[in-house]
Amino acid sequence: MKDKLLNKLTNIDPTASSRKKDHIELAFQSQIEEGKLDSRFYYEPLLSPHPKEGESNSFQFLGKTLRTPIWVSSMTGGTEWAKTINQNLARACHEFGMGMGLGSCRSLLYSDETLSDFDVRAIIGEELPLYANLGIAQLEALIKQNELFLIDNLLNKLRADGLIIHVNPLQEWLQPEGDRFKIPPIETIKTILEYGKFPVIIKEVGQGMGYGSLKALFQLPLEAIDFAANGGTNFAKLELLRNDKTKQEIYSKLAFVGHSAEDMVGITKRIIDELGDDMKCKQVIISGGIRNFLDGYYLINKLPLPCVYGQASGFLKHARGTYEELKDYVGAQVQGLELANSFLKLR
Ligand SMILES: Cc1cc2nc3c(=O)[nH]c(=O)nc-3n(C[C@H](O)[C@H](O)[C@H](O)COP(=O)(O)O)c2cc1C
Repeated sequence: MKDKLLNKLTNIDPTASSRKKDHIELAFQSQIEEGKLDSRFYYEPLLSPHPKEGESNSFQFLGKTLRTPIWVSSMTGGTEWAKTINQNLARACHEFGMGMGLGSCRSLLYSDETLSDFDVRAIIGEELPLYANLGIAQLEALIKQNELFLIDNLLNKLRADGLIIHVNPLQEWLQPEGDRFKIPPIETIKTILEYGKFPVIIKEVGQGMGYGSLKALFQLPLEAIDFAANGGTNFAKLELLRNDKTKQEIYSKLAFVGHSAEDMVGITKRIIDELGDDMKCKQVIISGGIRNFLDGYYLINKLPLPCVYGQASGFLKHARGTYEELKDYVGAQVQGLELANSFLKLR
């Protein structure tokens, strides 16, 4: 009789006995340290069922329909890995309904030699946003040389929806072969907007930007602002690692200057209140140091503007190998977001 009952139980729940053993063995490793609770959310276990797979809603962003509020932040082409990385990332965007910024396309302005590294429109599909990328220093030079038509050519050959301009004065300063800006970037950006041929997104490269710069940008008819905040990959630090010992000694503290993504969300909220109807740019990519879906979920829900969260290094870690590895990484984040939507509310 007892054996029969045991057999029946094993059939209903075949892993029960090994699971119970795991629970006893792992319980002591599973203690949460005091003071480590994530206090950003109310956890509401009673109010929703589990999400159904693929339940996330589609929404409009940058004039296209996304299914996942994640953005693949710009990463460089022109290296031996670039083609694999970009193709993997574009495939993930297609599968999960995300947008993508290409890394600096400078090499494509005057030559098509590296085009195949960047040419991912056929993979991501027409329905999702794909943006080309250039630095503000190149823009300054193109304006001076009367060559802005080269950007039109660039966007045409990539079939890109628009241009991301990275504004990176600290990186340029610390880069041994870096450029120097001769005019304030905001003036260069205004000239590009007057040219008016394509949508423009402005970003930093991992230092973020402060109140004055953000306020100036939000008053311009930009398609979006991408924070590229400080807290993750930092190009001041990265370029210093490529520089000489004296520069490292003098400038190392610059890596800690700047703004975190959370700081920038706070500043943006203040700017929204101050600008009212003068706010011309109304879409944001919250990026820079977003390490996991909880950080992303928190910040996109905190900002009262259409927004997504972006990652560069997070994707890079999983994009250099097989597509399956990247797919697992993105898929887990998407499911994490669905879980957060069901059970977590912002405090
Ligand atoms: C390998 C690598 C290459 C990058 N190249 C570019 C680039 O060409 N243009 C650009 O705007 N940003 C570039 N970035 C900066 C990222 O877009 C992003 O703003 C920054 O890494 C912060 O995001 P993270 O903390 O998620 O890495 C690059 C980042 C990485 C890691």
